[in-house]
Amino acid sequence: MELCRTVAELRARVNAARADGRRVALVPTMGALHAGHLSLVAEARRRADLVVVSIFVNPTQFAPNEDLASYPRTPESDLAQCREAGVDVVFAPAPAELYPAGAQTWVDVAELSQPLCGTSRPHFFRGVATVVTKLLVAAQPHVAVFGEKDYQQLQVVRRLARDLLLDVEIVGVATDREPDGLARSSRNVYLDAAMRPEALALVRALDDAEKAVAAGEHRVGVLEARVRELLARAPHAEIDYAEIRDAATLAAIETLRAPAVLALAVRFPAPRAASGHVRLIDNRVLLPQRSSGDPR
Ligand code: PAF
Repeated sequence: MELCRTVAELRARVNAARADGRRVALVPTMGALHAGHLSLVAEARRRADLVVVSIFVNPTQFAPNEDLASYPRTPESDLAQCREAGVDVVFAPAPAELYPAGAQTWVDVAELSQPLCGTSRPHFFRGVATVVTKLLVAAQPHVAVFGEKDYQQLQVVRRLARDLLLDVEIVGVATDREPDGLARSSRNVYLDAAMRPEALALVRALDDAEKAVAAGEHRVGVLEARVRELLARAPHAEIDYAEIRDAATLAAIETLRAPAVLALAVRFPAPRAASGHVRLIDNRVLLPQRSSGDPR
């Protein structure tokens, strides 16, 4: 496995592979790797000959009051896991490599970035879209792999690739979960023994909503109220958002007529985190049931 610190080193490696007719996959990460990331690497391996993992804690997606300084950093373990998983190249640049002094160019996916995480973290998707564009331009992969846990991020990345005419296939991978259903996240390390069971409120709420839709409930107001009621049963849960939106556009809807996404973001107290809390996200795509009157 090769470790590249500069864009020039990465490009040389990728260009050589492309010249040999090999397919290149990129898995962008911020490190603190866990089994969820490794499932992205496995998908990349299925789709390409050269697998590149980028490890870069992107400063522009954190607001000044957020957890950039205390974001978990585990470089030795990350490299060991990449080696073990058969990754070919790790790209781990310093911030100045991706943001040269005086950089003033941003990628802003205007509408998809507004709702959900965009409401409580208005700077977030501009930072993500900008760094992902830079990583795609630097690594020139045929395919780039992202987790579906970050549903809105995946839609933003798909849209920027389309709008900027980037010649890359964006692939989403199903959320990897702990045995009890909690979505794997680098931030789970901040959950203490008291909060860990409460965090399962998210997956319970998703399961309940899916069952309610399967039983024919298509009114978004009713479904969101059920979800909020279930989340509120976790005494320390503070809901950031719990919303059902159109799965493709993320537009607000009143009734499920097409695939929709139930997206959740919930804060729990976490004394180990610098901010004093941990914010967990999860989601489920809800498919409306066909009613007997619908055309076949
Ligand atoms: O999902 C993440 O880990 C990050 O948002 C990403 C896509 C690597 C961009 O920094």
